[in-house]
Amino acid sequence: MRVIITELICEAGQKMLQKEAQVDLKLGIERKELLKIIKDYDAIIVRSATLIDEEFMEKAENLKIVGRAGTGTDNIDVPAATRRGIIVANTPESNSTSAAEHAVALMMATSRNIPQANSFIKGGKWERNQFKGSELYGKTVGIIGLGRVGSRVATRLKGMGMRVISYDPYISEERFRRFGAEKMEKLEQLVKEADYITVHTPKTEETFGMIGEEQFAIAKKGVRVVNCARGGIINEDALYQAIKAGIVASAGIDVFVKEPSCGNPLFEFDNVIVTPHLGASTEEAQDRVGIMIASQVLSGLRGEIVPNALNMPTLIDDELIKLKPYLTLAEKMGRLYFQLEKESIERVELSYNGPISNEAVEMITISFLKGLLETVLCERVNYVNAPLLAKNRGVKVYETKKETTERGFINVIEAKIVNKYGGVVIAGTLYGEKEPRIIQLYDYGVDFPPTENMLIIENIDQPGMIGKMGMLLGEENVNIASMQVGRNYKGKLAMMSINIDNEVSNETLEKVSQSEGITSVKFVKL
Ligand code: NAD
Ligand code: MLT
Repeated sequence: MRVIITELICEAGQKMLQKEAQVDLKLGIERKELLKIIKDYDAIIVRSATLIDEEFMEKAENLKIVGRAGTGTDNIDVPAATRRGIIVANTPESNSTSAAEHAVALMMATSRNIPQANSFIKGGKWERNQFKGSELYGKTVGIIGLGRVGSRVATRLKGMGMRVISYDPYISEERFRRFGAEKMEKLEQLVKEADYITVHTPKTEETFGMIGEEQFAIAKKGVRVVNCARGGIINEDALYQAIKAGIVASAGIDVFVKEPSCGNPLFEFDNVIVTPHLGASTEEAQDRVGIMIASQVLSGLRGEIVPNALNMPTLIDDELIKLKPYLTLAEKMGRLYFQLEKESIERVELSYNGPISNEAVEMITISFLKGLLETVLCERVNYVNAPLLAKNRGVKVYETKKETTERGFINVIEAKIVNKYGGVVIAGTLYGEKEPRIIQLYDYGVDFPPTENMLIIENIDQPGMIGKMGMLLGEENVNIASMQVGRNYKGKLAMMSINIDNEVSNETLEKVSQSEGITSVKFVKL
């Protein structure tokens, strides 16, 4: 496995990766060069400067995972990655505290003219009158976006005696209360009341330029602003004009529309304090980010669930441990269908029965779809693109949940795969905590472990069939690991599920199917 790192992560993270992969550190590589070599890599690790767009992904033939060492993913075309089954994972939380502290630092530095005074004194001038500042205490701060970073800013500024007001239409009332912020129903309300405005939203169509000319027109004269989120959320031209007009007293800016930013008109002003996207640049944050992204990339390369993947449901570690055996079971249940039936599917109805119904079953459904589709599609099917591939093939997926089961097992997952002839039912459970078992196949109550190589045989329910099959497979040098027989009505049809050690040849299958009393035989690979 080959991993390319285009923006620096900590050494500990690099070392983790080196244990399992060949790691190439190509810091600041030219885009042209990157597009040329990316086909040779299974994973890429970036921060905010590397653009991972459609053109990039077209060239990245072998790419399985994009690791974003940080939070914002506006440099990554996530839907395009999803279409190609490429996982995109980031490291939220790991740098939120650093970003919040940087926003507060910018706010304080602009209020007390610290960088300007620093330059003066080092330039040999002792000037006190020019740098009279302003206290944060007792002022109103308007926080736009009360997520991971915004909420940390809120608690810190609350501690400094500020009145905290916040605009975030996408969170609950409870979250405002938890962080001591007064909820503003409208952005204008926040803008009118705030002495300080700090933005902490992602960069989206809705947020890009959300503080612009219109907002500066209604802001308090002397308002101070901070952008430590993404360049352009505070419109740079409008900010320039508002500073010139004396509406904005100072600005602290860490992020820019164009990065690296050199010669930005905002740099003309002494009361604009700028840093080169340093929000997350602390030792602590970078250690956390590097280790976390390395671990996620390795999980992705091993084909495991990636806890912070943006294009898969997220699972916390405990959930993952609990659900893993069910993911395996569901995937194997899915793999059975197209190996037994050559009929296209109209819909899949998955029902979760028992306490499992209270868990994050969405991921189990994806696992089922992955198993279902990977037996018939040439393209890569994984946890990322399985739902999209199913949708594109017109397969509707329904989930139902019930807290009890009727079959005497604690948890049962039942899949009804509906085709034009009706439905095929496959049900499974776990024995103990992690032994998958198939307990229904078609109308047959069965009980077999879904192992790698299996024969599923339907036969007339008559004496001698088991012995005959044992003899025949023995003659064909097929070793039986275990065998199970299920039937519905005495004397009608029965099903043998046979776990075998190896694959079987078509000739052997032909011989079995020709054998008297056998109505169908299928070799399945699970
Ligand atoms: P988050 O997803 O935890 O929080 C974002 C919040 O913004 C959410 O609560 C969301 O509801 C809210 N929001 C979304 N659209 C909104 C809108 N139109 N109006 C008001 N609120 C809206 O994100 P986060 O981890 O807190 O990161 C916040 C920003 O900080 C992101 O842009 C991220 O990229 C950036 N960031 C920058 C640095 C840095 O180095 N400067 C470091 C970390 C994060
Ligand atoms: C982030 O979104 O995490 C920040 O941009 C920090 C970074 O990547 O340097």
